[in-house]
Amino acid sequence: MFKLIEKLEKEHILSKEELVALIDQHNNTEISNFLFKKAREVKEYYYGKDIFIRGLIEFTNYCKNDCYYCGICSSNKNVARYRLTKDEILSCCELGYDLGFRTFVLQGGEDPWFNDERMVDIVSSIKIKYPDCALTLSLGERSYESYKLLKDAGADRYLLRHETANPEHYSCLHPQKMSSEHRKECLLDLKSLGYQFGTGFMVGSPYQTIENLAEDLIFIYDIQPQMVGIGPFIPHHETRFANFSGGTVELTIFLISILRLILPTSLLPSTTALGSIDEFGREKAILAGANVVMPNLSPTQVREKYMIYDNKVGTEDDALTSLENIKRKIESTGNKVVVSRGDAKTTN
Ligand code: 5AD
Repeated sequence: MFKLIEKLEKEHILSKEELVALIDQHNNTEISNFLFKKAREVKEYYYGKDIFIRGLIEFTNYCKNDCYYCGICSSNKNVARYRLTKDEILSCCELGYDLGFRTFVLQGGEDPWFNDERMVDIVSSIKIKYPDCALTLSLGERSYESYKLLKDAGADRYLLRHETANPEHYSCLHPQKMSSEHRKECLLDLKSLGYQFGTGFMVGSPYQTIENLAEDLIFIYDIQPQMVGIGPFIPHHETRFANFSGGTVELTIFLISILRLILPTSLLPSTTALGSIDEFGREKAILAGANVVMPNLSPTQVREKYMIYDNKVGTEDDALTSLENIKRKIESTGNKVVVSRGDAKTTN
């Protein structure tokens, strides 16, 4: 197994069978520690002790989709829906800028109210006010034309998790009108438009197999995103998966380390979901090669309405508290939070 990890470090990819064999060892402490060390070394080779921060603005919890795992899915009638106004979004950016954020991430459900015209206005207003900041969008599936308009308006990056690369598994997690193929087409559109783009998946989602995870890793290697966000699946009590078990910290951080070796210069977040299932989940991810954290900049009064899973951490905090909590955690790992846009490096 150690040889396999060295091979992965050198060649950045393994066969599906090899990946399955490796992932299968995620509960083996000796192998995990060896893998984490390699991943940390690669992260430090490119980024030193720097950890980048992104200010997350959850600006709408309306969603037209009905993903089976998600707490804000359209069929959940117990969610108090909200939309931030353009002015409220700009105030979040102002607060974030003063706290040292140089990347803002606008994340929301697929909310048709935020059509191209409204989004272009918001994107261009943010970029005019903060030309030194990167703007990341995470608005789900849109048309090529829409992605192009948003890019032309100034958006720099786009996050769209593929959720699972396996079409059958995808159909176990989503209603029929959504498809893995379309999700992948969107990612290729984003890439061809010149966005720095990110994808990702949930770890331990219902019906997921180790083979599925190997397929996710191969898909990610093939499309070469700049960012990959993964976090454990956490059941939400008002979804059909309420009684399924969630993903584990061990498997999630094992996969983060593998991703660091597959994409050495990538930006890998230590996600809120990890911090929600384990008090030290975020620290463990950093020590396994993650190099991004995304503290919440959303106004406190809307946070508890953006419950995509149960027991999400930080829903009572304000922006400063979220940032300080996360900074303390990062520093405890011997790393440091830096004020910069935090673009991905290139290997050549
Ligand atoms: N548990 C963990 N992650 C979830 N997401 C949605 N619902 C859940 C859940 N119950 C993730 C999806 C989505 C991202 C915004 O949050 O991967 O892309």
